[in-house]
Amino acid sequence: MKNKIDIVVIGTIIKETIIFPDKQMGPVLGSPAAYSSLVMAAQGVKVGIVTYYGNDMEEIISEMDALDKRGILPYSHTTTNLLIYNEDGTKRVEYQKSTPTIKFEDIHKDYLEAKYYKICPMNYEVDLDLVSKLHSMDKVVFIDLGGFGGATSDIRHSIETEYGKKVIETLCNNSSIIKASEEDLASIIPGKTAEEAAEILISTGAPKVVVTLGGKGALYKIADNDPQYIKPFVATSENPDGSLDFTGAGDSFGAGFMASYMQEQDIRKAILNGNATASLVIQRSGGCTYDRMPSKERVQERLQQNNE
Ligand SMILES: Nc1ncnc2c1ncn2[C@@H]1O[C@H](COP(=O)(O)OP(=O)(O)O)[C@@H](O)[C@H]1O
Ligand SMILES: [Mg+2]
Repeated sequence: MKNKIDIVVIGTIIKETIIFPDKQMGPVLGSPAAYSSLVMAAQGVKVGIVTYYGNDMEEIISEMDALDKRGILPYSHTTTNLLIYNEDGTKRVEYQKSTPTIKFEDIHKDYLEAKYYKICPMNYEVDLDLVSKLHSMDKVVFIDLGGFGGATSDIRHSIETEYGKKVIETLCNNSSIIKASEEDLASIIPGKTAEEAAEILISTGAPKVVVTLGGKGALYKIADNDPQYIKPFVATSENPDGSLDFTGAGDSFGAGFMASYMQEQDIRKAILNGNATASLVIQRSGGCTYDRMPSKERVQERLQQNNE
């Protein structure tokens, strides 16, 4: 079929300036949806994107040439914001203006033929009804909790609040895979270890949970089975100053995960692909650019390196 889409990414793309403790970068293309889309496209996946698109994105739109753009929704305001890294490596986002909520009706009708959906808002801007509708259509729905109370959320509603509880319950019961970072879970399910938080998400209704653990790799939990840990790959800086750039690590992991999961439906292999992808993305710097994203061949090569 013409212009067939393998996966639809849903969430706002933005223009961001990244502030590190010792330097500043940008403005560059950013957001979980932007990283997810470009990372999967670089691995040969046909990606459609549903996002609002700010009126000040012109000079960075060319980065998105590898994507299907039928699903883009014009937005007559800025989507510029700041991503600020703290000394301890945690992060927060300062928003100038929030984009409208993305609703089920906003999904381009051609995109509804796809089987896979990656839901990755920044700040709650994907409607919960959109998620339940896709789930009721038997779609495979992957949810990133970063923008549902995790690290990129402006106000982080934890499950101890009525709203936060409703959000997490709805997502757990209307998705195939829930992914979060340890940092996301510290806000969403306060005071618990990653393992305990994964357990809570499973008992809330999530069929499969994947938690990224930064330099410790990732863990996954399927139903009542014991959690399984998977180590990361060694990243070797390609930057002149020898630094690794962790911007987009978790999003690249999620995208590498899905690029594999769509092919084989094997969660362990998907995590290896996610870890390998993220390790390659953090070796380079420069925000969300197509050139930064590893090809399928580079990921394969890294996978063959011993990660034990
Ligand atoms: N120091 C590191 N070396 C190798 N891989 C890493 C390193 N830090 C992060 N990663 C990879 O990036 C993934 C996501 O990192 P994490 O910090 O958990 O997410 P986020 O970017 O959302 O904060 C990890 O699961 C791992 O695969
Ligand atoms: Mg992190």
